[in-house]
Amino acid sequence: MQRLDAITGWDDEHNAELYDRFAREHTFYADASRDLVSRADLTDKQLVIDLCGGSGVTAAILLESLPPHGRVISLDSAPAMQAIGRRTRDDPRITWITAKAEDVAHHISTPADAVVCNSAIWKTDTTAVFAAAKRVLRPGGRFVFNIGGRFAGLTNRDPHATTSLNDLITAIAVADYGYVPPKERCRPPLTSALVQAQLKAAGFTTVASDIVARTGTLEEKRAWLSIPLFARPLGQLTHAQRMKILQRAYDAADRTREITTRWLVVTSRA
Ligand SMILES: C[S@@+](CC[C@H](N)C(=O)[O-])C[C@H]1O[C@@H](n2cnc3c(N)ncnc32)[C@H](O)[C@@H]1O
Repeated sequence: MQRLDAITGWDDEHNAELYDRFAREHTFYADASRDLVSRADLTDKQLVIDLCGGSGVTAAILLESLPPHGRVISLDSAPAMQAIGRRTRDDPRITWITAKAEDVAHHISTPADAVVCNSAIWKTDTTAVFAAAKRVLRPGGRFVFNIGGRFAGLTNRDPHATTSLNDLITAIAVADYGYVPPKERCRPPLTSALVQAQLKAAGFTTVASDIVARTGTLEEKRAWLSIPLFARPLGQLTHAQRMKILQRAYDAADRTREITTRWLVVTSRA
């Protein structure tokens, strides 16, 4: 099943610019990419596919770990995201392919040594993507990806934590903007067990399924929530209204508090 925020919104120039600016000013996506790359067993490898590669954050980090003749194919469905990558991370060792992850096998003719997917797999039809990843990998090649805790059915909340920025945003929107929180959509989480079953059905062996905690600052969270696609609350408000609410929530929040999120990180072998 395709996740609802999947493709809509990413092919927008302004959103892509702000996403990439965030990725340059904060280590959030680079750190997650480095973690995946360290698990992909890239010693002496030549070709890696960066699935849902966006503006090339992960591709650039992959190149640091590959030998000089190594190559990366960065595949993403949003031309606006890739336009930034082509402009700012231009490197003859990166090939940009605009396509859906589900269709990757139609675009690759040489077997890949590894496939990585940072911060995106839950936006795709995982059954189709796992089958496609298996087709493009050489036997023994690794497929490594991460899943945000909320989408993996992990709870991120520390029971002792003070009110979160998201909670403050919702409260201000309800009190002052007539916001009505939508009913939670029922999507089955991509739990470790479900992911492993899907990987097995696609012909993969799971090497590791780890829960990893990542810590950031409230300022980083505020910057992330300024990217139009991630701005809250979802629904009827304009982006300008969301940004006003975000500033008020940020002013009211405890800025000394670190923000910890949990991620499911899966390493598998074809
Ligand atoms: C949060 S960004 C991550 C980008 C990149 N991996 C990084 O670490 O910066 C999510 C990306 O997934 C892409 N995406 C979402 N669904 C996709 C799909 N089904 N096929 C290909 N790309 C997809 C979006 O276009 C977007 O660029």
